[in-house]
Amino acid sequence: MREIIRPLISAEEIARRVEEIAGEITRDHDGRAVTLICILKGGVIFMVDLSRKLKIPVEFDFMDISSYGNQVVSSGVIKIDKDLENPITGKHVILVEDIIDTGRTLSHLSKHLSAQKPASLKICALLDKKSRREIDGIIPDYIGFEIPDEFVVGYGLDYAQRYRNLEYIGILEFIEGK
Ligand code: IMP
Ligand code: MG
Repeated sequence: MREIIRPLISAEEIARRVEEIAGEITRDHDGRAVTLICILKGGVIFMVDLSRKLKIPVEFDFMDISSYGNQVVSSGVIKIDKDLENPITGKHVILVEDIIDTGRTLSHLSKHLSAQKPASLKICALLDKKSRREIDGIIPDYIGFEIPDEFVVGYGLDYAQRYRNLEYIGILEFIEGK
């Protein structure tokens, strides 16, 4: 089997949309500092690019999670492999994710973070596979692109840990041969 990548969203389109989202976040926060929480590793590139376009004070923190059980479809029962370094109580927090699929991961994470009583908690995801949503209450505050139900890689998103460094986002396809 050979892997090919069919381009879906170009580097230029991503850059334009990231700047627009940064503008929305800047306006919504009206000079207030925000803590960006990156979900490792997929959210890294998006968070870094987004943060550089924000015109308000920014802090970074990182979480690493894995989901228990079924490896193909996220079970949503998450295990926290790396928790936040700093408390978020009273802070304006934005959770930065690469992609929302079923919504299970974010549903668990937002409950976990809300329990720490941040001043506000928003969800920012680069991609949204809205047609796959299984959890109703997950309404992202900021979304880059709504995409079809395809497996995508690039700009942070991986397949077996590869392709995160692609500048664009593409659909991963498997074809016969080598
Ligand atoms: P959810 O809990 O079903 O919303 O799963 C979200 C997580 O699944 C994301 O953070 C990604 O790690 C992973 N994921 C879902 N779809 C894709 C994809 O198309 N490419 C790469 N990772 C994906
Ligand atoms: Mg992820």
